[in-house]
Amino acid sequence: ATNRTFTMIKPDAVEAGHIGGIINMITEGGFKIVAMKLTQLTVRDAQKFYEVHKERPFYGELVEFMSRGPIVAAILEKENAVEDFRKLIGATNPAEAAEGTIRKKYAKSIGENAVHGSDSDENAAIESAFHFAGREQF
Ligand code: CMP
Repeated sequence: ATNRTFTMIKPDAVEAGHIGGIINMITEGGFKIVAMKLTQLTVRDAQKFYEVHKERPFYGELVEFMSRGPIVAAILEKENAVEDFRKLIGATNPAEAAEGTIRKKYAKSIGENAVHGSDSDENAAIESAFHFAGREQF
């Protein structure tokens, strides 16, 4: 079925000037953009967004990284969106990311890995609502 996923172009990729390249890979991959904005997470937003990772050793570093500069937040629509988008972004660690994936092309490290993609339909809905009002979703 056609459904939706949530993505962020992370601060590393925005800083490096890769917004255009990444959006191009997303649309070439067959995803329709139904919401999009340039925004920045506060430390509190990042803590809340990544709460599931709060016991992990990299949590502090992750929160600092994700709040250090602007991000692009977007909602994407496609058949099988969550799973297909995770395929398009590639493995968390860019050293393990497949050829042709966004992280293979743009990610710097396991921490600064250029893009986020929701891991389930449920989280896609939660993450989308975190960033976008209903009237901003088309
Ligand atoms: P993502 O999978 O989008 O969401 C969790 C994030 O935590 C992940 O991307 C990385 O940015 C970060 N992360 C995961 N593993 C590590 C790690 N070992 N060291 C630092 N950051 C990590």
